[in-house]
Amino acid sequence: MPLTSFQQPTEPEGFLKKELFITKEAIRERVVALASRISADYQGKEPVMVGVLNGVVIFFADLVREISIPVKMDFIRAASYGSRMDSCGSVTFTKDVELSIEGQDLILVEDIVDTGLTLARILEKLGERAPRSIRTCALIDKQERRSVSISIDYCGFTVEEGFIVGYGLDCREAYRQLPDIYILR
Ligand code: PRP
Repeated sequence: MPLTSFQQPTEPEGFLKKELFITKEAIRERVVALASRISADYQGKEPVMVGVLNGVVIFFADLVREISIPVKMDFIRAASYGSRMDSCGSVTFTKDVELSIEGQDLILVEDIVDTGLTLARILEKLGERAPRSIRTCALIDKQERRSVSISIDYCGFTVEEGFIVGYGLDCREAYRQLPDIYILR
């Protein structure tokens, strides 16, 4: 049955205007390039790709399908409390990785790195389980509020500032399903 009756959901009241920022074509190009680098760098290995829920799901699903080597997949979910503006903000884990990662090559996959606190805490937590290596991959490295130093090994886009939604990124849970990325102004 054709999906002719499909409509985008109405935008929640009171939200700012959204302005197209990164097109789905540009996203696709970077996803393919990142997947190609990961495939080359891990040739002969089978890394464990760990996605940080929830925002990562769309990027993660697109990325892994472009990777040409075998990978394992798992997910972790972090919740932040307190201020994200400094390193005092605390991060707790509401869903842990379930695969054994000891001796494995890990690639942590994020949709966006903002203050860097979430990724820093996950690196610390998973690092304690003696993986063979850990690298990081983020679709967007947003730098204006960075409060901890984080190295992103595979980065899709570097963005200086702005509230970004779409392609998994939300504003109060809205906009995640949009295929392009927008800035709210
Ligand atoms: C977002 C994003 C990262 C984190 C980055 O997740 O997906 O995990 O924030 O922020 P930070 O660098 O300041 O720690 P969020 O907690 O909003 O949950 P979501 O993925 O469900 O949107």
